[in-house]
Amino acid sequence: MNEEKLMNRCVKIGKSVLGLTYPNPNVGSLLFCDGKIISEGFTSKAGGNHSEINTIINVKDPSLFKKSTLFVTLEPCCHYGKTPPCTNEIVKKGIKNVVIGCEDPNPIVKSKGIKYLKDHGVNVKYGILEDLCKDLHKRLIVYFEKKRPYIILKWAESLDGFIAPKIKNNKRPHWISNELSKQIVHKWRSQEHAIMIGRKTKKNDNSILNVRNWNNTKNRKFIVSRNLEALDGFEIIHTNGKILSANDLSKNLFNKKIQSVIIEGGLFTLNKFIDSDIWDEARVFKSDKKICDGTNSPKLKLNYYKKNSY
Ligand SMILES: NC(=O)c1ccc[n+]([C@@H]2O[C@H](COP(=O)([O-])OP(=O)(O)OC[C@H]3O[C@@H](n4cnc5c(N)ncnc54)[C@H](OP(=O)(O)O)[C@@H]3O)[C@@H](O)[C@H]2O)c1
Repeated sequence: MNEEKLMNRCVKIGKSVLGLTYPNPNVGSLLFCDGKIISEGFTSKAGGNHSEINTIINVKDPSLFKKSTLFVTLEPCCHYGKTPPCTNEIVKKGIKNVVIGCEDPNPIVKSKGIKYLKDHGVNVKYGILEDLCKDLHKRLIVYFEKKRPYIILKWAESLDGFIAPKIKNNKRPHWISNELSKQIVHKWRSQEHAIMIGRKTKKNDNSILNVRNWNNTKNRKFIVSRNLEALDGFEIIHTNGKILSANDLSKNLFNKKIQSVIIEGGLFTLNKFIDSDIWDEARVFKSDKKICDGTNSPKLKLNYYKKNSY
């Protein structure tokens, strides 16, 4: 049995539902029996089955469980939430071997899921493709360990380093990138728990921030503003008339239980996060066209994708 290959398959399955399972993690799992995969599963939408349960219910012949090994990207849960604990179902079904990619950072589960399985006679192998599994679950890890959402900064800049021209003729974004980048941005939005912009970007560009060119998932959409009271289709981060630090903004989102956010400008909003070094990834489109004058692009302290530090 090639454990790494099988775990890699679980990671791919988990990736396929990124963005569709919040607040649950996008876990992938499979059952391996007598040299072949007999079932695969992933986490359902919130309130639905966890990955392990979806994998188990696919198996029609219960006599196979005792000969099977369960592979799963994240430690199985051992608590009652919207659904019963996965660990109990694994034990009940008589699965004797479980291979786990990485630990669940949620303190209700962390190491307790593994302990429950071991205490009930299950052989647990931990840490197969651990880095890859941690990468799959990086949003959840940052959320629980840093007590803030996983933060992705995103913008498009001209060849000469501007994100918007000085003069614009209408209240629509000035297109710096192209149709393909627009589509990939919609895909990125669909993968994150929330999208956030500054008040001036909403005013100048009338950004709708939907996912119409991808899968039309519904993200939570935030505008940060000192004065704006309410706006249809958006949640406002009220700051009581103050400019908030990136730390306070992140805490605000954490308190709203947001696990990941893509921040789409403008300069002022992005700079707060860059200056405080509170971010995880920057995704920057660079055009081959010049704008000549306008709003400067943010300047990263590091000129490359930041390495995650979890
Ligand atoms: N090319 C691109 O990728 C891209 C992306 C987005 C935007 N843009 C362009 O960028 C321009 C706007 O950028 P901008 O820098 O002028 O403004 P911005 O960042 O969009 O908005 C700034 C405003 O947001 C609120 N805000 C942001 N951070 C805050 C904080 N930490 N605490 C409290 N309030 C906060 C404040 O609103 P209040 O004044 O209401 O308090 C502030 O005045 C637009 O012209 C847009 O076209 C380009």
